Amino acid sequence: MRIIAFEVRPDERATFEREARRLGAAEGLAIDCRADPLVADNVAACLGYDAVLVLGRSVCDGPMVRALDTLGVRALVTRTVGMDHIDLVTAEAVGIAVSNVGYSPDGVADFALMLMLVALRKYKPAVYRQNVNDYSLDGLMGRTFSSMTVGVVGTGRIGSAVVRRLAGFGPTILACSNHEAPEVTGIACYVSLDELLARADLITLHVPSLPSTYHLVNERTLAMMHDGVILVNTARGDLMDTDALVGGMESGKIGALAMDVFEGEQGVYHESHVNDVLSNRDMAYLRQFPNSVLTQHMAFYTRQSVDEMVVGSIARAIDLVRRQNGVG
Ligand code: COI
Repeated sequence: MRIIAFEVRPDERATFEREARRLGAAEGLAIDCRADPLVADNVAACLGYDAVLVLGRSVCDGPMVRALDTLGVRALVTRTVGMDHIDLVTAEAVGIAVSNVGYSPDGVADFALMLMLVALRKYKPAVYRQNVNDYSLDGLMGRTFSSMTVGVVGTGRIGSAVVRRLAGFGPTILACSNHEAPEVTGIACYVSLDELLARADLITLHVPSLPSTYHLVNERTLAMMHDGVILVNTARGDLMDTDALVGGMESGKIGALAMDVFEGEQGVYHESHVNDVLSNRDMAYLRQFPNSVLTQHMAFYTRQSVDEMVVGSIARAIDLVRRQNGVG
């Protein structure tokens, strides 16, 4: 079996090489790694491979999936939880098996809690002041979780892990989800999305990017929220309408904004642009608020998660190819 992996970062290489050695001997598996994302210009390199592994910057839309099929690829595995960069309908139509990797939710859940605390305790302006010898307290008064209601939108593996962590801090926890998680019942109170939006002081998003979740935070839903609401997004940028965020920050409707993701982050995040002029004005504008924190889609980025993404994606690819070939 032959696997080709795209978007392989230096921090993934050793794990790929270890797995290639381990499984190469045991299963006759060959894995080739490339640093570039899978794009139309390099898709021909997939000829002769049974499975292709990607990360989120490889846009596997309809034409790409069809090209993979023409080249004989049987399985496409993304080393991510999110699958919004893959056209699943076309993949099913042409018969390419697709999978994501359910790596541990701990890294993202920890990061979400960190963003909440950074927002609540005004860490960003505090650090800015330290850097210029300003040790004043004015404007830095924070809030305690125990005095607040936190709304968790989505209680899949990551949302549930966030609820478990929050429980230790003592807020009232509201949750909404298509599927209620037994481990969350008893810690959080499930309510409708509208009720959650109307009651929560802090709202944290943990749902996938789908047509039904597109711009879940928009002008209309913002109007339903508390004045001064705190918004945290470690899921996907397009869950939030950027124009509505800009308006909400300017008016003070949003009390604090913490985002590890950004609408239109593709081509910007996970790359250095130190010498470039970026055209994403909204990103630059939103970043300058003292009560906003933007990070570069790094909530997943822990040694544990990265290893699980690599190991898990290879295992899924082997499994899918075997099934496609009617073995195992
Ligand atoms: C995911 O696993 O879905 C992520 O968001 C992380 C990824 C972009 C590397």
